[in-house]
Amino acid sequence: METKCWSVDNDVDSEKNYPQIVEASQLLKEGEVIAFPTETVYGLGANAMSDAAVSKIFAAKGRPADNPLIVHISNMGQLELLTRDIPETAARLMAQFWPGPLTLILKKKPDAVSSLTTAGLDTVAVRMPDHPVALALIDAAGVPVAAPSANKSGKPSPTSASHVLADLDGLIAGVVDGGPTGVGVESTVLDCTAKVPVILRPGGLSKEDIERVIEHVEQDPALKHSEAAPKSPGMKYRHYAPSAPLFLADGDKEWIQELIDQKRDSGLKVGVLAPEESASFYNADAVAVCGSRADLKSVAHSLYHALRSFEEKNLDIIYAEVYPVQGVGAAIMNRLEKAAAHRKITKGKN
Ligand code: TXA
Ligand code: MG
Repeated sequence: METKCWSVDNDVDSEKNYPQIVEASQLLKEGEVIAFPTETVYGLGANAMSDAAVSKIFAAKGRPADNPLIVHISNMGQLELLTRDIPETAARLMAQFWPGPLTLILKKKPDAVSSLTTAGLDTVAVRMPDHPVALALIDAAGVPVAAPSANKSGKPSPTSASHVLADLDGLIAGVVDGGPTGVGVESTVLDCTAKVPVILRPGGLSKEDIERVIEHVEQDPALKHSEAAPKSPGMKYRHYAPSAPLFLADGDKEWIQELIDQKRDSGLKVGVLAPEESASFYNADAVAVCGSRADLKSVAHSLYHALRSFEEKNLDIIYAEVYPVQGVGAAIMNRLEKAAAHRKITKGKN
């Protein structure tokens, strides 16, 4: 299949008809899958109501069928198609943070969307993305759009159209190129079906921000203990991983350089993922810079691009610095821990 690519300014006015968006939305309506930018990462969209369309998402990504998709909406009217049950806390969060990087798990209205979208669960994940291209595309399609991140399963999520094409060229009908995404990590997934909402996946909206609006919020215990079964099906899979094994290195840069030197002395090719404060210090086969430690949002913004930059460098091992688990740092460390399959070396401990 030929994958079409349409370029659009990321400040499109959703009231106007852009020919690229009209064409992309037409294909969505016809049951094709189309990748598009959101404020977090690129999504791979299909009509959430259609079994045939949604099954193409799973096929293109190589995604396990037990991993449900997030349904993207562009207006509150579409919410009524999906759920009848909006707890008061969820309503407050929507009012405060939508459009934005917050996905809410709500009770699903019977027959609301394709059962493939929800992997047969009686709940549905919903979010309203904060990106004019995403909103214009969903509006033009006129249906809720099921969309996981537009990467091959297991790879880092795409933060640019070129990442999407690297994984899915020839496998999908098209990609709308709205430039690089802003947030850089996926949305926060919050289960609102329990009395106290539970964070199933830390993401672009921090726990601290959520706590400013609702008093109590918990975290899925599986986020702390890798042996606990996660409530969000997708969280059990290895993810975000470059081809070479990644190790988290918790220590100062001089100690990390010693780790690198030892491996290089034994003939291995070594990569390192570091923020701009220390990147130029390292001597390695590949150094990927991801933002500034002084601004964790900048680290989130460039994390996946940095991880992808190791591809095709033929590395044997990659070391990554660690970050404080505060604000968006919780999402950064969650993704890095998964990319590392929880392999961590701590100075003075190993
Ligand atoms: O920022 C984002 O959330 C991006 C953009 C494209 O919107 N999307 C994204 O989708 O990251 P995906 O499929 O890569 O991750 C969705 C996560 C998975 O961990 C999935 O298991 C979980 O949400 N999820 C979806 N529906 C669920 C449900 N009903 N109950 C629990 N977890 C659910
Ligand atoms: Mg994903």
